[in-house]
Amino acid sequence: MSNKQHATTVYIGATDMVRIVQRKGLGRCIAELAARIERDFLRWHDFDLSARVACHSPHGVIELMPIGDARHFAFKYVNGHPENTRSGLPTVMAFGVLADVATGLPLVLSELTLVTAIRTAAMSAVAACRLARPDSRVMALIGNGAQSEFQAIAMRDLVGIRELRLFDVDPAASAKLAANLAGHGLTLTICNSTAEAVRGADIVTTLTADKNLATIITPAMIEPGMHINAVGGDCPGKTELHRGVLEAAAVFVEFEPQTRVEGDIQQMSADFAVTEFWHVLAGNQPGRRSADQVTVFDSVGFALEDYSALCFVSDAATELGIGNRIELVLQPADPKNLFGLLGSAALASLTSAAAPSQPASAPALQTVD
Ligand SMILES: NC(=O)c1ccc[n+]([C@@H]2O[C@H](COP(=O)([O-])OP(=O)(O)OC[C@H]3O[C@@H](n4cnc5c(N)ncnc54)[C@H](O)[C@@H]3O)[C@@H](O)[C@H]2O)c1
Repeated sequence: MSNKQHATTVYIGATDMVRIVQRKGLGRCIAELAARIERDFLRWHDFDLSARVACHSPHGVIELMPIGDARHFAFKYVNGHPENTRSGLPTVMAFGVLADVATGLPLVLSELTLVTAIRTAAMSAVAACRLARPDSRVMALIGNGAQSEFQAIAMRDLVGIRELRLFDVDPAASAKLAANLAGHGLTLTICNSTAEAVRGADIVTTLTADKNLATIITPAMIEPGMHINAVGGDCPGKTELHRGVLEAAAVFVEFEPQTRVEGDIQQMSADFAVTEFWHVLAGNQPGRRSADQVTVFDSVGFALEDYSALCFVSDAATELGIGNRIELVLQPADPKNLFGLLGSAALASLTSAAAPSQPASAPALQTVD
């Protein structure tokens, strides 16, 4: 029997991704991805961890986020261009690849813009479950753009948030968020300023996009027991928290070497104390120590969350039969004869050697757990 593998890749495009999330339901996607993130963070030492590679320009950043364990390698391409929305493009766009470590074969090529919003919200909720007060019911959401609904639903389902206080410098963004979440079991108030939105909140989520050393949240706004989920300060020269907020809080990060450069703690000295969040999940370090403590999750987005996300997408595509097999990489009939493909007869042998384009439900995709 031939042991020949077919070098095909499952392609999950933008429409496929929307269908996956619609068919599974957003709440289920967030919950399943949150569970995977927790499981993968508990396998911290199984992974080859590194900070992402970033290419900065005056208007934004383009980043590559690689990570691997013994079975799978994953990378995400993601950008952050806060001015994009003025010309009709999203601030954040992403795609990624999941590959087989044993052979290097790319198994999945997937759109990840929607999944980035889902995984970021899932990560925020996983952190808030450990770092916010268990009786947290009111959240301020500062920055009401593309990520905001996902954060709201994750915090509703996984943390118990029932009331949202919204503020954005663009009133149309808050109106969009309020309209999208009407009927979703949340009481919504649009506020006139960040200070008004934050007053009385148990959790403050900052999701602003501005390539600026901003101080959206100042020490005067902080109340005892608040949890700050700081998501938008994720790049050198791009922050949301006044340094006094960090000084008054216990600060938790994803991967310290990356967050020191990209997170709100970029303002602090190299010895400013932070805790990598996986230690809290593993029980090595406490999360919140008291009801009065102020906690900060200085989120920047780490490759391990995208590894979890790509594995989730791969399994969901297989389960639902969504996506198509494509010939992303060449497979000559004789793997040592790449040159031979350039001969006139070779194209026929190439197309007959590769599996025909087929839906991803075919079982050749390795199951990812
Ligand atoms: N940490 C992570 O893992 C992660 C993941 C995805 C996105 N992000 C970041 O989250 C942020 C939001 O992303 P998005 O896709 O929702 O962007 P977006 O452009 O769709 O929305 C950003 C919103 O912030 C508002 N805003 C800008 N400055 C403000 C201010 N001073 N006060 C109040 N509102 C303000 C804008 O008007 C806009 O509505 C971005 O900075 C992005 O880079 C982080």
